[in-house]
Amino acid sequence: MTEISASDLTLEEKASLTSGADFWTTKAVDRVGLPSIMMTDGPHGLRKQAGGTDHLGLASSVPATCFPPAVGIGSSWDPELIERVGAAIGVEAAIENVAVVLGPGINIKRSPLCGRNFEYFSEDPIVSGVLGAASVRGVQSQGVGTSLKHFAANNQEFDRMRASSDVDPRPLREIYLRGFERVVKDASPWTVMCSYNRLNGVWTSEDPWLLTSVLRDEWGFDGLVVSDWGAVNDRVAGVAAGLDLEMPASGGRTDAQLVAAVRDGRLAESVLDTAADRAIDLVRKAGERPAVSGPLDVDAHHALAREAAGRSIVLLKNDGALLPLAPTQRVAVIGAFAAEPRFQGAGSSLINPTRVDAALDALREVGGDAVSYAPGFAVAGGAVAASGRSADDLRAEAVEVAAAADVAVVFLGLPAAEESEGFDRDHIDLPAAQLAVLDAVLAANARTVVVLSNGGVVALPFADRVPAIVESWLLGQAGGSAVADVLYGAVNPSGKLTETVPVRLEDNPSYGNFPGEFGHVRYGEGLLVGYRWYDAKGLDVTYPFGHGLSYTTFAYGEASVSLNGAGDVAVSVDVTNTGDRDGREVVQVYVSLPGSIVQRAPRELKAFASVALAAGETRTVDLVVRREDLAYWDVRVDRYVVEGGDYVVDVAASSRDIRSSEIVAVQGDDVVLPLTMNSSIGDVVAHPVAGPIVMGALGGFMGELASADASAVSMVPNDEAMQKMMASFPIGRLIGFPGIDVTYEQVEQLLSAANAGS
Ligand code: BGC
Repeated sequence: MTEISASDLTLEEKASLTSGADFWTTKAVDRVGLPSIMMTDGPHGLRKQAGGTDHLGLASSVPATCFPPAVGIGSSWDPELIERVGAAIGVEAAIENVAVVLGPGINIKRSPLCGRNFEYFSEDPIVSGVLGAASVRGVQSQGVGTSLKHFAANNQEFDRMRASSDVDPRPLREIYLRGFERVVKDASPWTVMCSYNRLNGVWTSEDPWLLTSVLRDEWGFDGLVVSDWGAVNDRVAGVAAGLDLEMPASGGRTDAQLVAAVRDGRLAESVLDTAADRAIDLVRKAGERPAVSGPLDVDAHHALAREAAGRSIVLLKNDGALLPLAPTQRVAVIGAFAAEPRFQGAGSSLINPTRVDAALDALREVGGDAVSYAPGFAVAGGAVAASGRSADDLRAEAVEVAAAADVAVVFLGLPAAEESEGFDRDHIDLPAAQLAVLDAVLAANARTVVVLSNGGVVALPFADRVPAIVESWLLGQAGGSAVADVLYGAVNPSGKLTETVPVRLEDNPSYGNFPGEFGHVRYGEGLLVGYRWYDAKGLDVTYPFGHGLSYTTFAYGEASVSLNGAGDVAVSVDVTNTGDRDGREVVQVYVSLPGSIVQRAPRELKAFASVALAAGETRTVDLVVRREDLAYWDVRVDRYVVEGGDYVVDVAASSRDIRSSEIVAVQGDDVVLPLTMNSSIGDVVAHPVAGPIVMGALGGFMGELASADASAVSMVPNDEAMQKMMASFPIGRLIGFPGIDVTYEQVEQLLSAANAGS
């Protein structure tokens, strides 16, 4: 099998290899002994359809461990943990003989409304890229492939199969593609999945710029590009653009189109050969994995899911050290989610879990009879809803239980029907009935903790009134136990927010430009996505990007910052656990360049590390900001450019909790643009060859003009102002001005000499 290549196959066989056999498998070519392989979702566990593979079967899949979705595990900011979970998913895939797991999804959370935000890591590309790479490494360490998705700019579900994401070059590169670039370069995913949407008017499944120029020529991707399921618009155009595999099957219809296109010369056969060779290569890679037999160690994987869930929880607030709870305290558990957990979102990532832990059971295991319970409200489709009890009755019971306890723990969350692939939310509010129960409980017992279950960010109008808030996202099948671990302190919370919790939806940068209309969504906020926007506008947020508390405290020393041999910025800082509990801190490095020639956010995350520190321990934490991550996308030369200057390097506990600030001088990349008659005087003066000559020729004139203006009409206040004004004057327009003793030909000569010499 290993020696097979496209040249051994007939035209029809080659075409057949580049589309699926059914919903989940590729086609075999029996004549040459090439087997079929299976791909399944992904990303936070295996969704392998039970039985045949020829129908949609969104719900019926074999049992698998449901690890925390990206919204949860991303909050760990810990690549090592994510790699371990990835490896466990790889093991489960291998046991089920799955060749490729369809994930991770690393799209940017542009709006909190996106229905799939629970499947994505962050509003920041470095977080998404670093964590996405870890996930790929983990799965692929088991000889199982991944599919990095959804490439690219697929940041909403509304009209996702048709809408064009209209994004300017800088945000496209610096925000929406940067994470993909990182994963491709650092972790070499076996496959990349192109998205459903169009990008700047072109279907991503047939965009030669995206699939070939950027992905392969610039980033060096050498794997296979697979379509999202049903994303192919024009198969022939797709293959020509760099799409290698259409999924799922097209019933042979589009294979025949490919064959016809080759026969009538619209598609070069060599292009089809390339796609077929990539499909063969994927089958070969899958075949190299030694067979893994089960059974799956369900308990061990559940334990890992519990550990990961514990690390995913973000302690947003803990006034008066209300948490952790003591086992002897009388705890009133309120909220149906405690008994009927929400632990994953709906759609293609829905896992059939091997088991599910409810927080109420886990809390009772520790607190025993000291734990009382009232559902407080009903969750659609759950047991409380089925009981038919009235809202008043449920609320009254909750108040009674809360009043009799030392502490009330109220589980609030989003109904499952609000968070799914395929549609977006239209608000970020928790249900009013739940908020009413919380108010009533608070009135009865001020010592109230809120525990949240949600895949997308929710508004927290009670943040000032409730002393403790635990963001427990969607945590996978062991989430209930993990919440108990954190509430009772067996696990010291260490998660931090990978997205901002805004005060109001209206504050979000995409507001007004989401989800677009008539097939277009304009990314009008440009570069200022997430915290970049809130910081640039100086807006209050409920909790900032990077925020998360612990039961202990951390002190930061003064950071030291220097350039290493590769031109990267090396950052070193001592962090001390100043409390009496072991814990973890997520150390964050943000960078800014005051006075930059291009628009920049006030600060941008460039590196981070999750560090375990025993009580009292001090550790030196070393982080590296890659030089390439300092670069902006320069639209004049269509490439990344590092601007020279004094960069401010902030070492921080969150985007709004800077602990140490240092400056590092960075040498910039040269950007020498060809000079023309329309180049400004400023451009010409800054030019290494032309600059000195022009300064000589124009110096006298500029001086004259300045003094004449200053004494006569006072058009500008002084010399400096005159120079600033003249800096944007196109050089060609000066020729012939009184006092300018150069001819058109002389300037032309100067410009071409300068262009030749630079
Ligand atoms: C989703 C992908 C998924 C695929 C296969 C699509 O609808 O967008 O993320 O991998 O289905 O289930």
